[in-house]
Amino acid sequence: MRLTGLVGWRGMVGSVLMDRMQVEGDFAHVEPMFFSTSNAGGKAPAMAKNETRLHDAYDIEALKRCEIIISTQGGDYTSDVFPRLRASGWAGHWIDAASTLRMKDDAVIVLDPINMPVIKEALIKGGRNWIGGNCTVSCMLMGVGALYKAGLVEWMSTMTYQAASGGGAAHMRELLTQYGTLNASVRPLLDDPKSAILEIDRLLADKQRALSAAEIENFGVPLGGSLIPWIDKDLGDGMSKEEWKGAAETNKILGQGAGFGTAAVPVDGYCVRVGAMRCHSQALMFKLKKDVPLADIETLIANDNAWVKLVPNNKEATVRDLTPVAVTGTMTIPVGRVRKMAMGTQYLGAFTIGDQLLWGAAEPLRRMLRIVIEA
Ligand code: HSE
Repeated sequence: MRLTGLVGWRGMVGSVLMDRMQVEGDFAHVEPMFFSTSNAGGKAPAMAKNETRLHDAYDIEALKRCEIIISTQGGDYTSDVFPRLRASGWAGHWIDAASTLRMKDDAVIVLDPINMPVIKEALIKGGRNWIGGNCTVSCMLMGVGALYKAGLVEWMSTMTYQAASGGGAAHMRELLTQYGTLNASVRPLLDDPKSAILEIDRLLADKQRALSAAEIENFGVPLGGSLIPWIDKDLGDGMSKEEWKGAAETNKILGQGAGFGTAAVPVDGYCVRVGAMRCHSQALMFKLKKDVPLADIETLIANDNAWVKLVPNNKEATVRDLTPVAVTGTMTIPVGRVRKMAMGTQYLGAFTIGDQLLWGAAEPLRRMLRIVIEA
């Protein structure tokens, strides 16, 4: 059985990964070796078999014993450990959630329901670095990858509504704390049905603007009752790094664009943080290469993979099935609001949602583990 190192398994993405691996019976196929950055020598979790103690996540010799390593420890860990591990001669499979290695020539961004041919080709060529994609991109492609597979997309615009979880666990806590603080600040007036709504609104805005540095430590500004139209670094050219990733990673996942000797499909839009917990939503607009009947497009999308779910474009189905609350904690990727836009018959609109911690982070990694084991 393959000795498989697990690093970062106690964090938020790591915990979701452990849960999914148990649900899918993945531990039956590996000999797990649990690593820790803070508690080496401690007791490994119940899934351990022979390796019942935690190993030091910075111990290159211990890491080198593994045939496969899955890291959800984060980018700083990858930047520190991965180069030293490879320099030591380790030739195992590195499966990673962090973005650090994603755009490297020898790394494949893994999302097998969408890019199994790209993964297989890299495996044949001796590929060893398998990196999970940006959560927004992975969730979007799980929903509408069919249009790309069919070669229909001339360009895509994506406007995102990204959940707090994309920032990390502390960001989720901060959002909820802000909601609580804001609610408490107007509670007596809310409880009084005769109070004036504009008075409540004024007090609330005052409170939002007066949140302390500690209350906005992670987002930098209030998110509760507001939104933030910038995610990740400022690239200095008017684009956020999250927006840049949309184009770069979509094309790399699909095996097209720079590095593949083909033209990239233009992908652009605005990435916005909203007060949802862990589901990223996206309003998409495509220019199709040709006019395709709506019914054919719906069939393509619905039949692409086992998790995509076409939501009929009516109010009742949309408000029931196409919200972060409906999707959170599930593997389902709903795609709805599918219709031709006023700009012309080649312009297609759609709205999609995905759980940022499942398809957006943990799931592609555990599926890649199974692909490596079964190769
Ligand atoms: N960068 C994403 C976000 C999460 O901040 O929502 C990880 O892909």
